[in-house]
Amino acid sequence: MPRVVRFVTDASMKGLRAVVTGGAGFIGSELTRQLVQRGVAVTVLDNFASGKKEYLAGLPVRIVEGDICDKEKVAETLKDQAIVYHVAALPFIPDSYANPEEFFRVNVEGTIALMRHAIESESVERFVYLSSSEVYGTAQTVPMAEDHPTLPRSTYAVSKLAADRTVFTLYREHGLPSVIVRLFNSYGPNITQPYIVPEIALQLLEGKGILKLGNVDSSRDFTFVEDSVRAIILSSLSKDAIGEVINVGSGEDVTIIRLARYIASVVGSEFSLENDPSRFRPYDVDRLVCDNSKAKRVLGWEPKVELQEGLRRTVHWIRKHPVTFKAPFRGCAAWYRTPRLPASRRSEP
Ligand SMILES: NC(=O)c1ccc[n+]([C@@H]2O[C@H](COP(=O)([O-])OP(=O)(O)OC[C@H]3O[C@@H](n4cnc5c(N)ncnc54)[C@H](O)[C@@H]3O)[C@@H](O)[C@H]2O)c1
Repeated sequence: MPRVVRFVTDASMKGLRAVVTGGAGFIGSELTRQLVQRGVAVTVLDNFASGKKEYLAGLPVRIVEGDICDKEKVAETLKDQAIVYHVAALPFIPDSYANPEEFFRVNVEGTIALMRHAIESESVERFVYLSSSEVYGTAQTVPMAEDHPTLPRSTYAVSKLAADRTVFTLYREHGLPSVIVRLFNSYGPNITQPYIVPEIALQLLEGKGILKLGNVDSSRDFTFVEDSVRAIILSSLSKDAIGEVINVGSGEDVTIIRLARYIASVVGSEFSLENDPSRFRPYDVDRLVCDNSKAKRVLGWEPKVELQEGLRRTVHWIRKHPVTFKAPFRGCAAWYRTPRLPASRRSEP
C-alpha cells in the first residue's frame, strides 16, 4: 500500500526533514540551498568525491560524511527523514570508460542501498531519483519524450538506466512513493566536473584565443541549474508524479560550436577552433533534445532562465571563484586517448 504523502504544497515543506545525497555537488548544493530557502531541515550525505564543503558554507545543514554504499551510514542518515533526494553519483562520462565497476558500485548498488533503507524506514514518504537523459542515447526522434527508446551510449549511462529501472521496480514492489527525474544537461555555478560549459568558459578565460574541442557538431539541451532544481523539488511535492518518469530540460538543443560562440560573446573574446582528436568520445551521443511537456503538465514547471542569461551568470561565477576539479579519477581521459588493445586486436565498432 502506498504511504500517505502529506506534503503537497511548497509552503507545507517548512519543517520537513530531507536527505540530499551528493548535496555538496553541483546540482546537490543548489538543491540544498533551495530546500533550506523553503524551511526544510536538510541532511547532506556526501563522501566529497567531487563535492565541496564550501558549496554548503553558510547553509544551516547537517552534513554526514560517508559513502552511499555504506549501509550503516545510510540507515543512520535516513532515520526520521521524510524525503530522500538521491542525487549522488559518479557523473562524468569519460571516467566511466576506465572505471565501469566503480560506476556500477556507486550508481547502482548505492541507489539500491538507499532505496532499500528508505523502504524499511518508518519515516520516508518520498524518494526522488535523479536520472539522466543519457539513458536514451542519441535522439531517434525529437523532441525526446519519456517513452523514447533507451539505448545508452556509455557505461555511465547504463549504470544510470539500471538504477532508474531499479527504483521503478522497487517502487512497484514495495509502494514507497518514488519519482524518477530524467535530467538533461544542466549548467551553472558550483562547478565540480569538467562538463562542456565550464570547459569552454575556462579555456576562453585563459585568454589565449584558442579553443580545443572534440565533436562540436553534436548538440545538447541545456537547462540552468536553478530551473533544474525547481523541477526536482516540484517532483517531490506532486501526487501525480508518484511512480512516474519525468524529463526535465529546456526543450531546445544547441550545437557545441554555437554554445562556444555564445560563451565567447559573454567572455568578450574571439577564438580560433582547434580540433582535438583526444576529446572525441568513442561512442558519443549526437543529439539530445527534451520533450518537457510532461514536466509542464504534471509539475506545472517551466524553465525561466534563458541560455544567454544562464551563461552570463555562470561565467560571472567562474570569474569570481577558482575552479578546481577533484573528481576521483583525474586524468581519466588519458585512458581513452590511448588505445589499450594492440592494433591487431582492435575492431572499429
Ligand atoms: N550535471 C548534469 O548535467 C546532469 C544531467 C543529468 C543527470 N545528472 C545527475 O545529477 C546528479 C548530480 O550530478 P552533478 O552534475 O551535480 O555531479 P557532482 O559530481 O557535482 O555531484 C555528485 C555528488 O555526489 C557525491 N558522491 C559521489 N560518490 C558518492 C558516494 N559514493 N557516496 C556519497 N556521495 C558521493 C560527490 O561528492 C558529489 O557531491 C548525478 O546523479 C548525475 O547523474 C547530472
